Amino acid sequence: MKRKQIETPIEKIFDQEKYIELIHNQLESERNSGKKGRSCFLTTYGCQMNEHDSEKLSSMIKAMGYTSALSEKDADLIIFNTCAVRENAELKVYGNLGALKQLKKKNPNLKIVVCGCMMQQPHIVEEIKKKYKHVDIIFGTHNLYTFPELLYKAMTENERVVDVWDIDGEVVEGLKSTRLFSVKAFVNIMYGCNNFCTYCIVPYTRGRERSREAVDIVNEIKELVKNGTKEVTLLGQNVNSYGKTLDNPVSFAELLKMVNDIDGLERIRFMTSHPKDISDDVIYAMRDLDKVCEFLHLPVQAGSTSLLKKMNRHYTKEQYLDIIEKARKEIPDIAFSTDIMIGFPGETEEDVEDTIDVCKRVRYDSAFTFIYSKRQGTPAAKYTDQIPEDVKHERFNRVLEVINEISGEVNKKYKGKTVEVLVEGTSKKNDEVLTGKTRQNKTVNFTGGSKDLVGQLVNVKITNPKSFSMDGELAN
Ligand code: SAH
Ligand code: SF4
Ligand code: F3S
Repeated sequence: MKRKQIETPIEKIFDQEKYIELIHNQLESERNSGKKGRSCFLTTYGCQMNEHDSEKLSSMIKAMGYTSALSEKDADLIIFNTCAVRENAELKVYGNLGALKQLKKKNPNLKIVVCGCMMQQPHIVEEIKKKYKHVDIIFGTHNLYTFPELLYKAMTENERVVDVWDIDGEVVEGLKSTRLFSVKAFVNIMYGCNNFCTYCIVPYTRGRERSREAVDIVNEIKELVKNGTKEVTLLGQNVNSYGKTLDNPVSFAELLKMVNDIDGLERIRFMTSHPKDISDDVIYAMRDLDKVCEFLHLPVQAGSTSLLKKMNRHYTKEQYLDIIEKARKEIPDIAFSTDIMIGFPGETEEDVEDTIDVCKRVRYDSAFTFIYSKRQGTPAAKYTDQIPEDVKHERFNRVLEVINEISGEVNKKYKGKTVEVLVEGTSKKNDEVLTGKTRQNKTVNFTGGSKDLVGQLVNVKITNPKSFSMDGELAN
């Protein structure tokens, strides 16, 4: 892997602008000489962190003058922003890359880019270099903002560019043209993770935890609000430990207060909260700050204390349930979601029962369930007590059934109630139906309104609550 010194952020900002302009000029002169414009197709895997990185890539691509392609077939630039958290996602990327070989033959100008978390693993970069020679650019998570420079190099030198940094990217502020504006926006408050849960690859792909300065976060959100954003989701792998590494430490609860004070902003969400670090102050902030939504994503992973210990999670079943109880007492209409992992090495039938027990006690509004997947380089991959695939699947289906039944029941209590919805757009299936989310993060599809309500908060009466969404009618 190539090791590279980080230049100062100022030089990097300059570089980004310089290379965006160089590519922009080239694309413009192509169009002026009668050639058709170039277009880009971007596919994103993984979590909100990656989705947000893709937003940043999209805005760079737009500034360079590319349009969006409808499919890979039509594109001159194809990008895969990859996720390494489970094997499935990795296999999909390999499959997709293989299929692109033919396209490259048809369109010699086509540039194929793979970036994101998979690329932070040396064995994967080697595999791609060896087996997928048609890939033009490979870069990792730490140097996303150098993409215009890498693309320019690949275009002008016409050879493969590989640039993966094995050092934590420093926090770079002030990048221009890296924002597309919309009603809802993600905002990174920190990068990386220090927790090393024994199953997880993220600390290896995203590096050590580093927080952004609160003032930079607040300024970014003010800028978003000026451009029409109503809701922000503050992003980090463990937001509850925000600010610890800053020269002048700021707690996550203090940050929430600062963001809550921004005029014009309507809603604040955040993820992910690690149960070991959530403080009472965060629960009180959720209770007291009007813009912070009544929704908490609190991954439990497993209900069994001994399994949690093997996962290196640093909380017990009882401690987890205490947090839920406290949050529910302070914020009665709070909704909970979680991540659950089935089939971690050594998992017993009793462990699965513990997980089911937690689900029944918490009564999650929604839950993301995952089958444990071995990740090369993590401690759990070497454990000898791996669970056979068929056992994992049977347990997974059993837990999923409980979860789905509970979320269906939980939603029923909304029947006939009027809820606040931030309107995001029209429903995919029907133009007459508007769609948006409640403060509890529930999707509501409703009739009685028109497109001009997009971006506004409206009251909706729920007529038909279902397991994964609710139907309603405009109430005001
Ligand atoms: N920082 C977040 C999680 C990020 S990864 C947290 O700590 O909660 C998102 C989810 O992917 C995790 O919560 C976990 O449930 C799942 N996951 C992580 N590694 C996995 C693995 N090796 N196999 C299966 N699921 C995994
Ligand atoms: Fe992975 Fe654990 Fe960090 Fe979450 S807290 S990203 S699960 S190591
Ligand atoms: Fe996210 Fe996957 Fe990376 S979950 S941090 S994109 S490994």
